[in-house]
Amino acid sequence: MAFPPSFLDDLTARNPIEDVVGQYVALTRRGSNLFGLCPFHAEKTPSFSVAPDKGIYYCFGCHKGGGPINFIMEIENLDYPDAVRFLAKRAGMEVPEDEAYRSTYRKQERLRALCKEAARFFRAQLFSPAGKEAQRYLVGRGISSQTVSRFGLGFSPDTWSSLLDTMAKSGYTKEELYDAGLVLKNQKGGYYDRFRNRLMFPIIDTRGNVIGFGGRVLDDSKPKYLNSPETIIFNKRKNLFALNVAKKTKEELLILTEGYMDAISLHQYGFDCAVASLGTALTQEHAQLLAKYTNQVVLTYDADEAGQNATRRAIPMLERAGLQVKILRMQGAKDPDEFLKKYGADRFRALLQRSENQAEYRLQSLQRKFDLNDDAQRVTFLKEAAELICTFPAAVERDIYGRRAAEAAGVSPDTMRQEISSAYRRRIARAKKRQTQADLDLNAQQQPKEKGLHYDNLKSAMAEEQLLAQILKDPVLLPEVKLHPEQFSSPLLGRVFSLLLQCQRDGRPVSLTALEGDLTPEEMNHLSSIARRRDTLVSEQAIADCVNVIRGEYARTVGTGPEALRAIQQQLQNKKGYGG
Ligand code: UTP
Ligand code: MN
Repeated sequence: MAFPPSFLDDLTARNPIEDVVGQYVALTRRGSNLFGLCPFHAEKTPSFSVAPDKGIYYCFGCHKGGGPINFIMEIENLDYPDAVRFLAKRAGMEVPEDEAYRSTYRKQERLRALCKEAARFFRAQLFSPAGKEAQRYLVGRGISSQTVSRFGLGFSPDTWSSLLDTMAKSGYTKEELYDAGLVLKNQKGGYYDRFRNRLMFPIIDTRGNVIGFGGRVLDDSKPKYLNSPETIIFNKRKNLFALNVAKKTKEELLILTEGYMDAISLHQYGFDCAVASLGTALTQEHAQLLAKYTNQVVLTYDADEAGQNATRRAIPMLERAGLQVKILRMQGAKDPDEFLKKYGADRFRALLQRSENQAEYRLQSLQRKFDLNDDAQRVTFLKEAAELICTFPAAVERDIYGRRAAEAAGVSPDTMRQEISSAYRRRIARAKKRQTQADLDLNAQQQPKEKGLHYDNLKSAMAEEQLLAQILKDPVLLPEVKLHPEQFSSPLLGRVFSLLLQCQRDGRPVSLTALEGDLTPEEMNHLSSIARRRDTLVSEQAIADCVNVIRGEYARTVGTGPEALRAIQQQLQNKKGYGG
């Protein structure tokens, strides 16, 4: 959805970057800029800066940066249009929406209201005579009434249409209930309640909206849990159960469990940092969502094979999101809920403190794959263990785990040490080779850090960056720049140049914030880092130098001959992945 430029200018003017950021970060002034602790990565000394005159923020530590809209996208986990709406609301502005959006938004709002009311209905049922058995079940599982109300638990009665009938009285149609995933259609086109005779767990997003439900049977029948399907308000890839509560925890970590009941039990036993996935595998989006609230995640998946596989899959995703991962392994219980009941909170707290780092976990997982009574398997285990252990960064770790592997396989620690050091030497040799290559290739260092951005012509791109940095610092110089956007070697920088020209022609401020809607967050991060360079010296001579380099490179690489044209065509085809 495109918002009119004049509206966006007004929006950014009425949401000064220092005010917007200031609601989330304590800022102190230093010269014309403000500094604080970066909300996007863990740090002890402030490298997060806000430049009110430029209308942008930038972190010298994690290289995130942009205007107020970008900031809200990052910190509130919203997409661009929703961030715009968020800021509009903040400034008391009306958003010029198109009809398509208005109707989707209205529909979403309606379904959110519907789900909230459904949750109230289920809750009332739990405390009605129909809910007696469910209440008994909760007592049997040791769930306190405080926990019941904290999570808004409820009960769906054993009938085909109680929810349908009740919601109809409140003015909701069958189709709406269907769209919210709360009713099903039979072959004759009739509707009936999806959840019947189940203990109900509302799924609540981090803004407090009920977006779906999980429902558990009260006995051993199957399926044990039923969940709402995906709907226009319920995306399972992006939400986690209990995060609405856990996001407020004072603990420095979040505990990720497999089951609703595990998360709930943990909360009841004082671990208010527990969340659960929604009956689906962990996604990269989940990892990113977690990373907004913590630096460390402890995995407490079930001890069975499925749980261990899920653990292995989750680790790289969580690490990619910048999270430190630990694995908690239980003995004598299959899941946290069972463990807490059997052994209590103190024992769990001890497990949590002792939770294994990845090194230990990975060595044990490896070990379990082999039958160490078999000589051949023992050899393979030792080789693979050496490959693994030699990647551990600390010498003491390599020593400890080396001893452990040696002991497990019944060889002497010395033999193992030799295996590890030769694996280590091989690894260092490989790394050296890569390093030399990288050193030769200065290129790599000057490339944008953001994923998906790449300069094909570094010499020109460096001049283009410098040029844009100067223009952003001192926009009055823009008319002096006699270049066409096509002469830029980097499509992104050329596009930015042309957008800045457009701003100038329209009489709008020439600044990065004016471009937020046209650039992806990665592009914006990159441009903010360009705009925030401390070493940018603005002068007409410097501008002329940049222009000359860009023109020269353009003439050299593009030229005019048919050969050059073919080369460009080829490049375009490669980019789009044609041919082959
Ligand atoms: P578990 O069976 O481990 O759940 O399934 P649990 O929380 O320990 O269940 P209790 O203790 O018997 O009540 C883990 C999760 O997998 C999903 C649910 O999200 C559940 O919390 N699941 C499980 C389903 O979606 N459907 C099922 O039939 C079973
Ligand atoms: Mn369980």
